[in-house]
Amino acid sequence: MERMFGRPIVTQEQMRSRIRELGRQISIDYAGKDLVLVGVLKGAYAFFADLARAIRIPVRVDFIIVTSYGTRAKTSGKVKLVTDLTETIRGKEVLLVEDIVDSGLTVQYLTKTFSKQKPKSIKVCTLLSKPERRVVNVQVQYVGFRIQNDYVVGYGLDYQQKYRNLPYLAVLDQLNEEET
Ligand code: IMP
Ligand code: MG
Repeated sequence: MERMFGRPIVTQEQMRSRIRELGRQISIDYAGKDLVLVGVLKGAYAFFADLARAIRIPVRVDFIIVTSYGTRAKTSGKVKLVTDLTETIRGKEVLLVEDIVDSGLTVQYLTKTFSKQKPKSIKVCTLLSKPERRVVNVQVQYVGFRIQNDYVVGYGLDYQQKYRNLPYLAVLDQLNEEET
């Protein structure tokens, strides 16, 4: 038996079922359109792979790597694009795929930045959202799960670059942190 880490908040089964629904909805909404899924790395890698395979229409995929300065649950809001898109998004329907929308600053920055390239549309799909923590008002069209103001890890999300490989989502609380 694998030792459980953290307090699980979303199980693998709940995740699978919700991602299937999101994939179905996106397939309907974008049928016949030129959709590019843009994965926001590193955090979105696991969600991206599962979501893309739950979408039943042909899509392009691309990735960006961003870092935000700051520690733990606090992001400073200074987002840096470390690696840019590899293909043009001009005239395309762009769906940003995020792990979590917290303050909203990353999504705001990315939406602004990519709008300059004149895509036909730019929308956001996030696995998780913490509405209570929002400091800017951003539109998020697809949300997997709305969660409380807890720091979560697993399924792509990290704490100091660790725990991304946990197959479920867990709350990292005080007790766990001492083990890190
Ligand atoms: P923002 O505050 O909406 O700009 O979110 C910035 C980034 O902070 C997200 O893309 C995540 O990588 C990270 N983040 C925010 N909340 C959590 C969390 O609970 N666990 C892990 N990473 C988080
Ligand atoms: Mg992160």
